[in-house]
Amino acid sequence: MAKARVQFLCNSCGSVHPKWMGKCPDCGTWDSLEEYKTPTFDARKPTASAVGRGATGDFARGADALTIDQIDANDAPRTPTGIGEFDRILGGGVVPGSAVLVGGEPGIGKSTLLLQVASTLATGAGVGEALMSKRQRQLVRAGMSEAPSHDPTSGVRVLYVTSEESARQTKLRAARLGIESSNLLVLAETNVERIVNQIHKTNPAVVVIDSIQMIYKPDVPAAPGSVTQLRDCCMELVYLAKTSGTAVVFVGHVTKAGTLAGPKIIEHIVDTVVYFEGDRFHAHRIVRCVKNRFGSTHEVGLFEMTGEGLKEVTDPGNLFVEQYGPGGPPSGSVLTAALQGSRVMLVEVQALTASSVIGAARRKVSGVSADRVGMIIAVLEKRAELRLAADDVFVNVAGGVKVVEPAIDLAIALAIASAHANRPLSAGTLAIGELGLGGEIRSVPQLEVRLREAGRLGVGHAIVPHTSGAIPKLGGMALHEVRRLSQALEGM
Ligand code: TYD
Ligand code: MG
Repeated sequence: MAKARVQFLCNSCGSVHPKWMGKCPDCGTWDSLEEYKTPTFDARKPTASAVGRGATGDFARGADALTIDQIDANDAPRTPTGIGEFDRILGGGVVPGSAVLVGGEPGIGKSTLLLQVASTLATGAGVGEALMSKRQRQLVRAGMSEAPSHDPTSGVRVLYVTSEESARQTKLRAARLGIESSNLLVLAETNVERIVNQIHKTNPAVVVIDSIQMIYKPDVPAAPGSVTQLRDCCMELVYLAKTSGTAVVFVGHVTKAGTLAGPKIIEHIVDTVVYFEGDRFHAHRIVRCVKNRFGSTHEVGLFEMTGEGLKEVTDPGNLFVEQYGPGGPPSGSVLTAALQGSRVMLVEVQALTASSVIGAARRKVSGVSADRVGMIIAVLEKRAELRLAADDVFVNVAGGVKVVEPAIDLAIALAIASAHANRPLSAGTLAIGELGLGGEIRSVPQLEVRLREAGRLGVGHAIVPHTSGAIPKLGGMALHEVRRLSQALEGM
């Protein structure tokens, strides 16, 4: 076995340095570097199951270089979890030997979701669904047909390691969710060595570690939840995944106080990273994929927290749009069609302006980038002569959704202008467009897809960037093409 190399690890940001320094050069924290022995693994010793299962990482076999067309892309078949929205985020299902990190605030529903995923994997419900044709699935979901009976042994073995709750607590939650399967094993354990032993003993296809911050390696002299423990435990389990073909799903808590080392530290070690977005006070949960070595886009999954666990939301429709009564929307409310992964979501941007203490105007935003709103306010001041310096400006996306793309700029600008003038836009007006510093409105990707979805949901009027007639006539929707911000504001 190779000799362990001594390095220094920052307890605050997790970066590794070759020598000790008083201040971490990466995050600037003082006195945060600690001695750290890089864990080494004996790659010459393949584990028993590694050879049989076709692990994705060929560390154990000592792979030879191949030409790109010699490599078989099909050697990593996915196991659909059967929870469509979760499969969507992963890119079709769990890849054998992959490592997935599921992060989110405490209480947002990580354990609930993963217990449900573990159950559908164990019972093979997902596999059964995946094998059904689209038509069959629609009929079954509508209650017009029976699901084809599937062999209960068609599921895969899943080991759910609960390091935060007792096995009994997990059982109680499972009972409430109506989960039972002889393929689903539960282990209440925090010692990573014993967890690895149990994985070797039970040889599951998928292991869930709930949560990574509570497990520890006994020979590492640091507390569970510290950066050192987090990295070492995660690396050990990822190595096991790569060599044995068992997929590992980690749960990581994101805490604002920062007393626990955050899941950010292990993001680069795992293959797929998904985060629960927003907060637990909204009924809807948005799970966003921020990194995926096995998927093409940054997909978003939608769920609703109910008494029986998380339910999938397959058609977001008007979910994030307030239904205003006959009076129409108030001033400062503008609809936009945002691209979330491969799906278009109709969202409502709301703005409010209120007079402020002179010289101390506040800008508070939620759901959009604060920097972007700052820029939009500056453009409104300079190019549209809107005086906002003495006003507090608040911008919010209704429903707890986060929209990061610049295509929402025009909707934010119109919402602020409408709030400032205290004049509502006509009901059902949608605005899409990126705003340039010169006040010009730039085109956005997939405009037609966005407009089609908006049309389906009954939007009758859209303000869009100038397209030189590239957009075909969409039945019933009036398009107002604009080149400059001032043109968009004229129509208000
Ligand atoms: P949980 O999955 O324990 O959160 P995490 O693992 O991310 O910390 O979710 C806890 C919350 O979800 C809890 O406040 C209760 C709620 N919940 C429901 O509303 N319905 C349910 O069926 C379950 C199991 C939980
Ligand atoms: Mg939990």
